[in-house]
Amino acid sequence: MELPRFAQALQRGGQAFLNRIFTTTEQRYARRHRDPLPHLAARFAAKEAVIKAISQAAPGSLLSMKAIEIRNAANGRPSVTLHARARHVVELQISLSHSEGLAMACAVAILA
Ligand SMILES: CC(C)(COP(=O)(O)OP(=O)(O)OC[C@H]1O[C@@H](n2cnc3c(N)ncnc32)[C@H](O)[C@@H]1OP(=O)(O)O)[C@@H](O)C(=O)NCCC(=O)NCCS
Repeated sequence: MELPRFAQALQRGGQAFLNRIFTTTEQRYARRHRDPLPHLAARFAAKEAVIKAISQAAPGSLLSMKAIEIRNAANGRPSVTLHARARHVVELQISLSHSEGLAMACAVAILA
């Protein structure tokens, strides 16, 4: 995810865009940082990665982005919580990363 592109989407969509995509917890986490943008963009990328990783288990029934929540443990490690029924998902692991102009995420799903 290119940060300038995501910044544009954010500028266009404003708070309504934030509320449609991110949970209150995710928004609060991002706002705790001096620059929330990379944290939001990495979460956006993570939600996309999760949707792709589980699409085989639930073809044609995409989870909404907000139903996929990224939380961080006290040591910073991110995890995924699904606020929706996803019967075939046994385990989900994600990894987030951001650098100067990019935010990235990788999701691994174990499906039944
Ligand atoms: C945890 C660590 C890997 C994060 O890397 P980073 O370069 O600071 O930051 P990145 O942009 O790659 O990644 C940031 C993301 O890492 C994730 N992260 C943070 N702590 C983590 C942890 N303990 N475990 C897994 N992921 C973690 C978070 O999701 C964070 O993004 P977020 O705040 O938006 O949720 C790094 O701080 C670390 O502890 N490295 C240990 C190894 C080391 O110190 N090596 C130095 C010699 S090379």
